Amino acid sequence: MTRRIADAGAAAALCVAPAVAAQSGQSPLEPHSVQSAQIETLAWVLFGGGALVFLVVLVTAVAALRNRGRPSRWAHERALVVGGGIAFPALVLFALLVFTLVVGNRVTTAGAGVPLRIAVSGEMWWWRVEYAEPGRSGVIATANELHVPAGVPVEIVLTSADVIHSLWMPGLAGMLDAIPGRANTLRFTADTPGRLRGQCTEYCGIQHANMTLAVVVHEPAAFAEWLAAQARPASAPATPALAQGRDLFVLHCGGCHAVRGTAAAGRSGPDLTHAGGRVALAGTALPVNAGTLAGWIAASQQLKPGNHMPSFTALRSYELLALAAYVESLR
Ligand code: CUA
Repeated sequence: MTRRIADAGAAAALCVAPAVAAQSGQSPLEPHSVQSAQIETLAWVLFGGGALVFLVVLVTAVAALRNRGRPSRWAHERALVVGGGIAFPALVLFALLVFTLVVGNRVTTAGAGVPLRIAVSGEMWWWRVEYAEPGRSGVIATANELHVPAGVPVEIVLTSADVIHSLWMPGLAGMLDAIPGRANTLRFTADTPGRLRGQCTEYCGIQHANMTLAVVVHEPAAFAEWLAAQARPASAPATPALAQGRDLFVLHCGGCHAVRGTAAAGRSGPDLTHAGGRVALAGTALPVNAGTLAGWIAASQQLKPGNHMPSFTALRSYELLALAAYVESLR
């Protein structure tokens, strides 16, 4: 009885898993772009073709077994084995190969004359995301979140700063490797505004599983607003406490992190110019508020062991709170 309940539980979990994946915005069966809809169709056609081959081979095998011990009717048997066991699977698999190549070509060459190009770089263990500054030659950097407008073809120019990573945003596009010294391109056109999720899909070290990416699809006007806000340098601290936080930031964090408009200009860690307004902290692990920021600064190695930021355990509590309040104020 217990066994049966456990089996039922496992079956229910299997049924629920795709629904949970869909809710988290990370399911290839919940397409949010023209390209991912084509990939979903391809997946179902491959599944159907595979099931058909499996069924015909199974029927052929059962028929052969039932003939065991009877006088050989070689001509019939040969027709059965060659037809059902070789010719039919070969034909179906060839048709599936052709369909896969056609869809693959359609997905990778979509969106010619691309209006929006975004540079994404995989780094141990976060994503650097860079936009060209509208109307100027500068670069706007953010981290672990990709903002795109709906209905506009987007081209991701993907590379890596260290080892091979792989970017997969199942709701938007296929999987693509991020390789050091190479620029791979990924094109998609998101259909409706919403929140999705991406994940590194090439094992790249201890925090590979937490190398996640929040994806925000905006209405085009809202996207333009977001980009204009990101292009502005950080606003000056509004209170003496925040000014103290900024000074501490430049002193302790500026070697690795940049906040445009201050003396902090490090490049090895994420740009934090508008970190207080981000969707999440540490990939997509934590919400952004003064509490999680203080916890992250003091215990980064406990929260995401092995990541390249040390835990700042020597800070006094008032310094830690001032720092966290300052980063949270960077909207
Ligand atoms: Cu980056 Cu796995």
